[in-house]
Amino acid sequence: MRTVAIANQKGGCGKTTTAVNLASAFTLLGKRVLLIDLDPQAHATLGLGCDPEGVSRTVYDIFTDTNIPVSELISKSNMEGLFLLPSNILLSGVELDLASMKNREYILANRIKEINGSYDMCLIDCSPSLSLLTINALVASNDVIIPVQTHYYALEGLRQLLETVDIVQRRYNENLEILGVLLTFVESRTKLSKQVQRQMREYFGDLVFDTVIHKDVRLAEAPSAHEPVLAYAPDSMGAFEHKILAEEIG
Ligand SMILES: Nc1ncnc2c1ncn2[C@@H]1O[C@H](COP(=O)(O)OP(=O)(O)O)[C@@H](O)[C@H]1O
Ligand SMILES: [Mg+2]
Repeated sequence: MRTVAIANQKGGCGKTTTAVNLASAFTLLGKRVLLIDLDPQAHATLGLGCDPEGVSRTVYDIFTDTNIPVSELISKSNMEGLFLLPSNILLSGVELDLASMKNREYILANRIKEINGSYDMCLIDCSPSLSLLTINALVASNDVIIPVQTHYYALEGLRQLLETVDIVQRRYNENLEILGVLLTFVESRTKLSKQVQRQMREYFGDLVFDTVIHKDVRLAEAPSAHEPVLAYAPDSMGAFEHKILAEEIG
């Protein structure tokens, strides 16, 4: 199982959109995919048609109840080959539980070993913070994808994120690699968007994915239909670009 964290402590840069749609795009490549929602806001859970308030077992139990097998926390989504480990607001209290635990950075990494053989890919949708939860995601992952909204403040906060990745690589998980920086909310026609794209490619070089995600109202609508955009609007630009991204990643 290849595990990929989708992280950026900035909210609204497209993490959940990337996680949900890339996960569904990988299923079209014939992969069995698990999406772990690691955000108490539970947007990925909602986006896959699961009611966060209606689920009795969530990713919270991974951290606090080792008696429950991880496989029992996972449910099917409405897309063939795509599975969900849901979240809900309970997860917001987990930092307190973690504070007193030994090896608290490794809990997710150790627990998902149980399901290593059951999925080809595991994507982790992180919360907008550099909390212990996000550290757990990075420690458990082979790769990290960093979605970045192409606007004026694009580079702001990225240094802090890169430092966190560096710390995780040195202290906890030497195998972690930055798979790529994904430019989101791209608007081909505006000068600013072009400028920011150029600036990001100068700064990050080859780390920036060739594929970019344009601003597309279908991507914003799909969550309200509780579906990935590939099911909601399969002919949209957003669906196409996430499929191309999945192929670029391989
Ligand atoms: N490329 C895009 N075009 C239009 N709307 C988008 C795009 N990407 C994300 N959105 C919308 O912007 C909001 C924030 O995106 P989201 O993926 O939830 O960000 P994050 O998880 O980083 O907070 C959501 O309402 C989402 O539907
Ligand atoms: Mg999100």
